[in-house]
Amino acid sequence: MGQKLKILDSTVSTQEEARSLAEGGAQEGTLVIAEEQTGGKGRMGRKWFSPKGKGIWMSLVLRPKQPMHYTPQLTLMTGVAVCRAVRKITGVMAGLKWPNDLLVEGRKISGILLESAAEDEYVRYCIVGIGISANLDAADYPDELAHVATSLKMESGEPVDRVALIAAVLEEFEILYALYQQEGFGPIASLWEALSVTLGKPVTVNTANGPVTGTAAKLDHSGALLVSTGQGEYVPIFSGDVELKR
Ligand code: BTN
Repeated sequence: MGQKLKILDSTVSTQEEARSLAEGGAQEGTLVIAEEQTGGKGRMGRKWFSPKGKGIWMSLVLRPKQPMHYTPQLTLMTGVAVCRAVRKITGVMAGLKWPNDLLVEGRKISGILLESAAEDEYVRYCIVGIGISANLDAADYPDELAHVATSLKMESGEPVDRVALIAAVLEEFEILYALYQQEGFGPIASLWEALSVTLGKPVTVNTANGPVTGTAAKLDHSGALLVSTGQGEYVPIFSGDVELKR
């Protein structure tokens, strides 16, 4: 991963840069990193705050030979890779919130955005976007993020070596991607569950079909979150926003 690398000073979104490279035939593992994004994107059309020199804003091109409906598994796999790398390089004990967030004490430190292009139900390419709030200070955040976001620097008290962290993310990613391709999602799901801060907790999940309230129980074989709503009933959530109850 990252053998082909494009580093940009400023771009609208590394997702768009990576997508145009993928459309042009870029090989698997091609990586785009930017110092700043002027139009960083989050899930569900949200913005991703990406100030200059303060974070890790990067997108990876993948070409997994698999049906489109398995791609959410790659989001979860990437979360495990980022979580392991963050813990190893910074000692900050971040945890995973389904489907794509890394949290430290309830505050978001990293997010993952997976976008895919299909051909006949199969993946043509995926763009795995990774945002890590590495060296932001409290004063960098706009008011609306002040209470919901944090950074590795704020949590550990010292600046993070971004190059070392990127290298560690790529290394973990390669290990997990090889495991995923050899053994499927089962082992990844177990690793994800062990790093999760969602499971076992009371949650409300806001979905397109309305809210689902219960206990976040486990992942199913596809990567969906199973919410236990009582009497042994599980509701699978394929897409939604999890609110952790306190
Ligand atoms: C989320 O939590 O909603 C996902 C955030 C993903 C942010 C990353 S930063 C690099 C890449 N480029 C983008 O515009 N978004 C992703």
